[in-house]
Amino acid sequence: MLEPLSPHGQHPAPDDDFLDAVLHGLSLRNKSLPSRFLYDARGSDLFEHIAKLPEYYPTRTEIGLLKERAREFGAALPGRAMVVEFGSGSSRKTELLLAALDRPAAYVPIEISAAALYPAARRIAKDFPDVDVYPVLGGFHDLERMRLPLGGSPLVGFFPGSTIGNFSRPEAVDFLLSARRLLGPGAAFLLGVDLQKPLDILLPAYNDADGVTAAFNLNLLARINRDLEGTFDLGAFEHAAIWNERHHRIEMHLRSLTGQCANVAGRTFSFAAGETIHTENSHKYTPEGFARLAGDGGWEVSRVFIDEKRLFSVQLLA
Ligand code: AVJ
Repeated sequence: MLEPLSPHGQHPAPDDDFLDAVLHGLSLRNKSLPSRFLYDARGSDLFEHIAKLPEYYPTRTEIGLLKERAREFGAALPGRAMVVEFGSGSSRKTELLLAALDRPAAYVPIEISAAALYPAARRIAKDFPDVDVYPVLGGFHDLERMRLPLGGSPLVGFFPGSTIGNFSRPEAVDFLLSARRLLGPGAAFLLGVDLQKPLDILLPAYNDADGVTAAFNLNLLARINRDLEGTFDLGAFEHAAIWNERHHRIEMHLRSLTGQCANVAGRTFSFAAGETIHTENSHKYTPEGFARLAGDGGWEVSRVFIDEKRLFSVQLLA
């Protein structure tokens, strides 16, 4: 069985740092908020909607790769493996990986949201009766304290969705090093990584015609109003998604349309007209650039799967 996450066997309280993070982020000269707070229940629903938009190519392209190249994944990865997924959410892509693998032995979903983790773990256990499922409630910051169940199965890490793109370079290196420590020597690691591409494809993916991405971004202010006694006027901010050429990333911002003030938990913050709150980064890689990042994180790229339109990659690290 799993060792507890803390000496007292208590799970970490998710998101108890929301207030601190908001007060800190809005006090910075360049205002910013950590992107993980976009994913409350409403934000997660909106992201599921984004994933189905015609403009948003990553989800369907990655699922297409996992389905169409299933035989190659099965051949490249060990049999009777234990799959460890980082930020497993609804575990939808996991089903495709488990179906591609040769007699997978165990599945360890690691997820910060209990509401997502346990129903998904039960569904996988039911649909794959030969796979032992060990759900772990926790976030990426808890990886250093986690231990995996023993059993001698070869380990396969799984981190789909290009979530690694949300991390700055130092955060991505730290994450890869923690994953390497947790999975141990000899493990394989499968990651979804979004690729650099022309802006006429990239920008609409984050500026969809129906405004779903705008609603996803603005929901962060709605969440502050709801959970932190905020007084943001949602009509006085607009969604902006821009390409940062220097850092090779899409940045999401919330732009103040006028000079205005808003309160959070009794404190007042002022915004100049045009000033923004930076809410998310989504880094895009070249295969060479990702190979350098993987190397700095203690891994080596052993195989890269890319779709015909060269939109998205699934990277196999050793
Ligand atoms: C879930 C982090 C992969 O960066 O593409 C989608 C989040 N933000 N539209 C991404 C997102 C705006 C998404 N990831």
